Amino acid sequence: MSSLLEQTFLQVNIGLLVITTDGTITLCNHYMEDQTSETDLVGRNIFDVYPELPQKWLQRRIESICQLKNSSYINWEQRASLFNFRSSRPITGTQNKMIQNCSLLPILDDENQVSHICITVNDTTATAISQMQLKKTSLRLNEEKKAQQRLIEKLEETKNQLLQSEKMASIGQLAAGVAHEINNPVGFIKSNFNTLKEYAGELNGALDKYNDIIKAMGDVDIEQRIDSINNEHDIEYVTEDISTLLAESFDGISRIEDIVKSLKHFSRADTKEWEEADINEGIENTLKVVAHELKYIAEVEKDLNDLPLVQCLPMQINQVLMNLLVNAGHAIDPERNDGKVLIQTLQKNQQIVIRIQDNGSGIEEKHLVKIFDPFFTTKPIGKGTGLGLSLSYNIIQEHNGEIIVNSTPGEGTCFTITLPISQREAQNV
Ligand SMILES: Nc1ncnc2c1ncn2[C@@H]1O[C@H](COP(=O)(O)OP(=O)(O)O)[C@@H](O)[C@H]1O
Ligand SMILES: [Mg+2]
Repeated sequence: MSSLLEQTFLQVNIGLLVITTDGTITLCNHYMEDQTSETDLVGRNIFDVYPELPQKWLQRRIESICQLKNSSYINWEQRASLFNFRSSRPITGTQNKMIQNCSLLPILDDENQVSHICITVNDTTATAISQMQLKKTSLRLNEEKKAQQRLIEKLEETKNQLLQSEKMASIGQLAAGVAHEINNPVGFIKSNFNTLKEYAGELNGALDKYNDIIKAMGDVDIEQRIDSINNEHDIEYVTEDISTLLAESFDGISRIEDIVKSLKHFSRADTKEWEEADINEGIENTLKVVAHELKYIAEVEKDLNDLPLVQCLPMQINQVLMNLLVNAGHAIDPERNDGKVLIQTLQKNQQIVIRIQDNGSGIEEKHLVKIFDPFFTTKPIGKGTGLGLSLSYNIIQEHNGEIIVNSTPGEGTCFTITLPISQREAQNV
């Protein structure tokens, strides 16, 4: 080796080692020597000098290089440290286990056979460390991004719920206002009708007395004239009908009073107050509010059994019931005349169960997993927002309860709500 080449070989800043195919060290530069406490490496076996080398693995590689006469590269990502070297960092002075890129290069003799292998060792510790840090950082960033995404979705969902509950609250206020406004006129209509009923009674009484007087007079001519006046004005029918009309009107008035009462109850301002409420009463009130939605579509059957008072947010539970009842109504084809909605309540240990079952369209299996998602709707714009069930789900969750659905397409759907009677016990479970 010329002196120039030798100087270069010895001093170059990567490890260089030339071995025979059976592993005897032929040449070795300072870099390789500096990394071991051994001296006089030339002539010794590579596996004695560097016992950390994976012997079998390296021998197989050398064999394949001899056969194929190809170079072989060992990237740090495959095998981080072939040689057990140290890498010192110039600035901090810290020492790390060296991460390295190595290569095995075939050296051919005159007969074009591989007689030696040149091993190079290139310190990639700094690059590898920064790459690993980068990878870690990017993983962390990705995680953070996902968490933020989830947060955004949650915020969006919460915003929608807020919007919805805001809407419900304003509908509630509106209903309360309307109920109040209706109350007054209904009050004086009722009182006027009572007076009218009295007056009608007085008039009837007076007419009866006139008739008695005329009969007593025995004047046939006058009797005939009175009869013809009575016929002309249909007096017999009118007197009879007045009391029917009055009875019907009183019935109407008490129905208005009923609706006003349930509207008031339904829209109580204290929406966020936990109360001990009668769920059956809640169902009756809600039914009055949604009656117009269901009246021409389905027959509503009730099987409301005795329930203890349930600790709940009554307004919110009413809202859930309303959503379910309106959905049931939507699921039934108004053309058919055997639509049915069954509402059932019962107590089961420390819980109460509410079932709302319809014989409507049912829910396709592929939709079943989605119906509680916000914005999932199969209804046309204007008819469905896709928020009813998602909101209901959250309300029931807030009550530590459960809402589940069973549905058969073409046969109908049944929603079952389970609510703990007492929240304290529910939380202790
Ligand atoms: N009783 C039911 N029968 C059939 N499908 C139903 C019933 N209740 C809910 N669904 C389905 O679930 C979807 C979501 O319901 P919901 O959250 O109340 O939103 P919306 O009623 O506004 O569509 C409905 O669009 C409908 O496809
Ligand atoms: Mg709905």
